[in-house]
Amino acid sequence: MRILSGIQPSGALHLGNYFGMMKPAVELQEKGEAFYFIADYHSMTSLFDAELRRRYSLGVALDFLACGLDPERTVFFRQSDVPEVTELTWLLSTVTPMGLLERCHSYKDKLAKGISPSHGLFSYPVLMAADILIYDSNVVPVGKDQKQHVEVTRDIAIKFNERYGRTFVLPEPLIREETAAVPGVDGQKMSKSYGNTIEIFGEEKALRKKIMSIVMDSRPVEAPKPDADRNLAVRLLKLVAPPEEAKECEERLRAGGFGYGELKKKLFEHYWAYFEKARRRRTELEKNLDYVQEVLRKGAQRAREVAGKVLSRARRAAGLE
Ligand code: ADP
Ligand code: TRP
Repeated sequence: MRILSGIQPSGALHLGNYFGMMKPAVELQEKGEAFYFIADYHSMTSLFDAELRRRYSLGVALDFLACGLDPERTVFFRQSDVPEVTELTWLLSTVTPMGLLERCHSYKDKLAKGISPSHGLFSYPVLMAADILIYDSNVVPVGKDQKQHVEVTRDIAIKFNERYGRTFVLPEPLIREETAAVPGVDGQKMSKSYGNTIEIFGEEKALRKKIMSIVMDSRPVEAPKPDADRNLAVRLLKLVAPPEEAKECEERLRAGGFGYGELKKKLFEHYWAYFEKARRRRTELEKNLDYVQEVLRKGAQRAREVAGKVLSRARRAAGLE
């Protein structure tokens, strides 16, 4: 079974990225042959600063390796190191109905956020389809917001297969429902573009401040909170604390007499401890960037072997060879 996923280098990774994408991706390494990549071509649709792209790409590589990606087992690479994917994007474009792209929520959401509508932004799902199809991927672990793109990928693969004969494997999205949308400090979905993130790695003081400034309601400490399960800090605590402890906090909050300050302090402590090992590993990797570049170089080499074969299959099917 081939598992594939990508993540854009568009900022520092946060708890939403971690629980929605990285953690399941790291766990899935055991279940098959994983291909994970840094989607730097994709980031060109919304990040226009070359130096930042370089810095964030390295940041994602460090984050992923620190969080348990095993380069001995998993093929880890930068998307743009496999340029075959851009050629496949063209082949796929010619079988992609306009309406399919016009219906994509993510495109409409990005326009609403004020990102300028380039052709690249519009055709982004076709590049994503090429990413997935070029490695004969079976399973694509992503957050809920990317589910539609995997469905579009299936539609595009079906169109191509119908027009030119069976060429592509149909992928399945893998969505972890329980962490499908990690909330940010304002209760909305955690996202870089909402400015409500808690980063995985960063400076302790700043991160503590972020967590302590999560806004709660104004009910007095002693008031019972029958809606304790919906409390933002409780929901986040459930991700980073042992289940019994998170449950205990929830019950104490429900009963009343447990202050929000104390709750947030607990959340910070668990969050900080949760990433302790990864943080140490990341510091080591930062001192050894040659190793990180070597991992990416070897990953790209392996990825290109597979991509070259599948692209050639598609070219032959379409009468280009
Ligand atoms: P952002 O919204 O911060 O720009 P991305 O769109 O780059 O994040 O998402 C990268 C990956 O992380 C995707 O697989 C996405 O589904 C997942 N992801 C992002 N935010 C969340 C969240 N709040 N909850 C769950 N998964 C998320
Ligand atoms: N579009 C995805 C995101 O923004 C990143 C991505 C690009 C991806 N290509 C992919 C994810 C292929 C899974 C498979 O999060």
